[in-house]
Amino acid sequence: MSKIEINNIYKIFGNKPDSIMPMVQDGATKDEVLEQTGHTVGLDNVSLNIEEGETFVCMGLSGSGKSTLIRHLNRLIDPTAGEILIDGENVMSFNPEQLIDFRRHKMSMVFQRFGLFPHKTVMQNVGYGLEMQGKSEEERDKVAMEKIEAVGLNGFENQFPNQLSGGMQQRVGLARALATNSDIMLMDEAFSALDPLIRSDMQKQLIDLQSELKKTIVFITHDLDESLRLGDHIGILNAGKLVQVGTPVDIIMNPADDYVKAFVKDVNRAKVIKAKIIMTNANETNGIDKSNLVKVNEDQFIEEFLPQIVCTNANCEVVDKSGNTKGYITNKELQSSLTKS
Ligand SMILES: Nc1ncnc2c1ncn2[C@@H]1O[C@H](COP(=O)(O)OP(=O)(O)O)[C@@H](O)[C@H]1O
Ligand SMILES: [Mg+2]
Repeated sequence: MSKIEINNIYKIFGNKPDSIMPMVQDGATKDEVLEQTGHTVGLDNVSLNIEEGETFVCMGLSGSGKSTLIRHLNRLIDPTAGEILIDGENVMSFNPEQLIDFRRHKMSMVFQRFGLFPHKTVMQNVGYGLEMQGKSEEERDKVAMEKIEAVGLNGFENQFPNQLSGGMQQRVGLARALATNSDIMLMDEAFSALDPLIRSDMQKQLIDLQSELKKTIVFITHDLDESLRLGDHIGILNAGKLVQVGTPVDIIMNPADDYVKAFVKDVNRAKVIKAKIIMTNANETNGIDKSNLVKVNEDQFIEEFLPQIVCTNANCEVVDKSGNTKGYITNKELQSSLTKS
């Protein structure tokens, strides 16, 4: 069973969405529907599965339907047609109390504009979700402090948001989402408002946190590099249609159409592909020469170890955080992963 299952979701915005459904199902495009009926197609027959513990990135140009999709997951939006199952449960079947409980415990959200309370301290902001869960102040502060440390903000717990930089404010947002211990985290353009260097730091931090936490993360972005860095799988939306779902390597190597091709054209592969993405699993590599191995972490990007591998002509042994061997990348595979088109 997938953690999140989205089956044939349509979302049409306008006065009479149901009456427009036949036209959309007959294949009318978003532009045609808008011109002829004044309705906007938000999502057009989107189906996808998101597995427990993965980071699923939903990517597409502005207006392609990314926010509409993510808002279906916590039922900020109801679909015109189709179903959403989370842990096998149809979210449309929840009564109001179940829905509140579901939003408080199962999912947390990180917003693009941080969404912090200006008059609450960092500690109070981070503990907010726990307050909603009815936890005591003592417990809130204890968990909040843990999460503040996890995002590298110790010492700032009694500051107010406007005393912090944008990057730090988003760390507070991230800590707040982590504090409720929900198993699903929704992040809608969470890093898009940050300067490039800070953004890159936040991506790295999320990858580090996720390698321990293994939450199910649905991350939205219009930035291909970001989606390739973060995503175990990436779904690409164009005008409400899901045009491709795949691993970062699938997307780069086999773009499904011209829209995806235009995205991947200029990508720097070494910057966005992680060791684990191109490794061959340990149990399938009997033939590999293990005399000259360099250990690399599964979550390292190719650019971080490429020079060493090229200089020493070594093969890579890919290990996890605890040093267990997960797989291997031969020198040859490494080089061809960078040049194949
Ligand atoms: N509440 C709404 N009412 C009418 N149209 C909407 C509404 N929300 C989104 N849309 C339209 O649906 C499409 C997808 O929007 P959105 O999901 O916000 O895109 P993205 O997040 O990818 O930028 C856009 O054409 C947008 O104008
Ligand atoms: Mg959006």
